[in-house]
Amino acid sequence: MSLRLGDVAPDFTAQTTEGTIKFHEWLGNSWGVLFSHPADFTPVCTTELGAVAKLRAEFDKRDVKVMAISADPLDSHTKWIGDINETQNTVVNYPLIADPDFKISNLYGMIHPNVTDKFTVRSVFIIGPDKKIKLMITYPASTGRNFDEILRVIDSLQLTAKYSVATPANWKQGEDVIITAAVKDEDVPAKFPKGHKKIKPYLRTTPQPNL
Ligand code: BEZ
Repeated sequence: MSLRLGDVAPDFTAQTTEGTIKFHEWLGNSWGVLFSHPADFTPVCTTELGAVAKLRAEFDKRDVKVMAISADPLDSHTKWIGDINETQNTVVNYPLIADPDFKISNLYGMIHPNVTDKFTVRSVFIIGPDKKIKLMITYPASTGRNFDEILRVIDSLQLTAKYSVATPANWKQGEDVIITAAVKDEDVPAKFPKGHKKIKPYLRTTPQPNL
């Protein structure tokens, strides 16, 4: 059965470029991002792994551990990382899982069921500290993933986990947020002392509460 939002991210033990990792143990109480690749030495993926390495400080700031997976063996990964570091002008600073037998790719539904050739779906998973899947996005092979968007969603998830708010379309840090329907009108001033706007009974906004 395929994974859905809210499911516990399947646990696994994997050989990675940073040694053997037990996934849940490695995550600890942190947030996690797992992103998949069909093969090493693929051009779009080369740029993606480089982009994520450059964003490492942003992920650390949010207490997010990042791991990539590619359906090739470790010796191939090591050579590919050399290329990534060289061409993307960075140093890959997070583990890359070797998954030559597709064990983990299958566990996460990353293999297209109707394609016989190796074709790992290019997916991104965000996993919460409760180990549950908070986001899944699958991209076409020809479109490099937008990791600024992944960081934006993590910001929203971390904010909405703490406050009774949701974030509107294209929201970014510092912008107003939506008060959820669970908060009664009479409770709004105490819960959101920075003020609020009632645009419609179902659409109430307030300044971002944690700033
Ligand atoms: C890539 O360029 O990274 C790529 C090529 C084929 C399938 C998926 C990704």
